[in-house]
Amino acid sequence: MSDLASFTCIEDLRRQHRRRVPRMFYDYADSGSWTESTYRANEADLQRIRLRQRVAVDISLRSLASKMAGVDVRMPVALAPTGLTGMQCADGEILAARAAERFGVPFTLSTMSICSLETVAAAVSTPPWFQLYVMRDRDYIRRLIGRARDVGCGALMLTLDLSIMGQRHKDIRNGLSTPPRMTLRNLLEMAAKPRWSLPMLGTRNRTFGNVVGHVPGVESLRTLGAWSSEQLDPSLDWDDVKWVRDQWPGRFILKGIMDPVDAEKAVDIGIDAMVVSNHGGRQLDGAPSSIAVLPHIAQAVGRRTEVWMDGGIRGGQDIFRALASGASATLVGRAFLYGLGAAGEAGVTRSLEILQRELDLTMAFCGFTDVNSIDGSALWRE
Ligand SMILES: Cc1cc2nc3c(=O)[nH]c(=O)nc-3n(C[C@H](O)[C@H](O)[C@H](O)COP(=O)(O)O)c2cc1C
Repeated sequence: MSDLASFTCIEDLRRQHRRRVPRMFYDYADSGSWTESTYRANEADLQRIRLRQRVAVDISLRSLASKMAGVDVRMPVALAPTGLTGMQCADGEILAARAAERFGVPFTLSTMSICSLETVAAAVSTPPWFQLYVMRDRDYIRRLIGRARDVGCGALMLTLDLSIMGQRHKDIRNGLSTPPRMTLRNLLEMAAKPRWSLPMLGTRNRTFGNVVGHVPGVESLRTLGAWSSEQLDPSLDWDDVKWVRDQWPGRFILKGIMDPVDAEKAVDIGIDAMVVSNHGGRQLDGAPSSIAVLPHIAQAVGRRTEVWMDGGIRGGQDIFRALASGASATLVGRAFLYGLGAAGEAGVTRSLEILQRELDLTMAFCGFTDVNSIDGSALWRE
């Protein structure tokens, strides 16, 4: 894996991901909804933030160690929940969870993962955090929460911004399905990407592992498709959030908060953290970037709960910008998916190394030695 050292930034990993993974799945990761304006704004608004360079500060000893909801982390970053991760690379969730564990940051398993909760938990010694979507079938959700508890998940992260589905044009055009439909185009694509296809043929984890076999009547792909399309629950409200909270005595995180009014309601539920997130620009196109909203939410509720942010983080500098704008930690989605698609477990490790190194250097240039002390004084204001 010596060539991994030649990937010096997340963009290098993205290009390699694109080369190695069939287009349907690369596009699924690297796209936003409708015009993709929010998707682009997430990155662009971070890039616009200027930092204050400081000099003649003793920066010889530096620490990135922090805590997220009381959990020790090597840097204030967790891997975001991403659906179909096992389609970017065979057994993708297992590989990403292992890389995260070895590195010392949390991994969050999506409800819509390919590898199941039990499979991933058995592959690591620290069970993953679990991200929950509330579906119409509440009995299934109750059992799913029970399964997360049984395997020892360290936190439950409830996502609130997907009770209906944002429309992603590329996925529609590509006919995205899991596993891929065997059209001539898809077969040719897969034949042209043997480093993706061969391991995929060798694994049994090729469909939604948390669902198939756990819902009566959903045993095959055909029945799974019908089930998932009717299961998103547009009636989800704060009473449902309380219902979930009541079943989970452990760490509880709400994800998808983009408005100070909702942030107040989230705090009232009793949470350990909230994630300021627009789902990586995949849901409401036209929403502001996460980084634009973050200072408002941090100001409103930051003393009462931990405020984390995700969306558009493509380097350690972006993590620094988020911390300086009021977040105490961040999640990364595509930054780790690009690593996974590029080179499996080692690729995820590489993306974490890149983020760590860039965060450390940025902190040093700005005159900080402890990641936990980064604040608004690090930002250049005209
Ligand atoms: C391919 C992909 C799949 C995703 N699936 C989920 C999911 O299943 N559950 C969820 O809460 N968020 C999901 N998200 C959103 C991420 O958790 C996170 O909010 C987003 O990726 C952050 O933006 P970034 O990718 O620019 O870092 C997904 C994002 C991507 C890119």
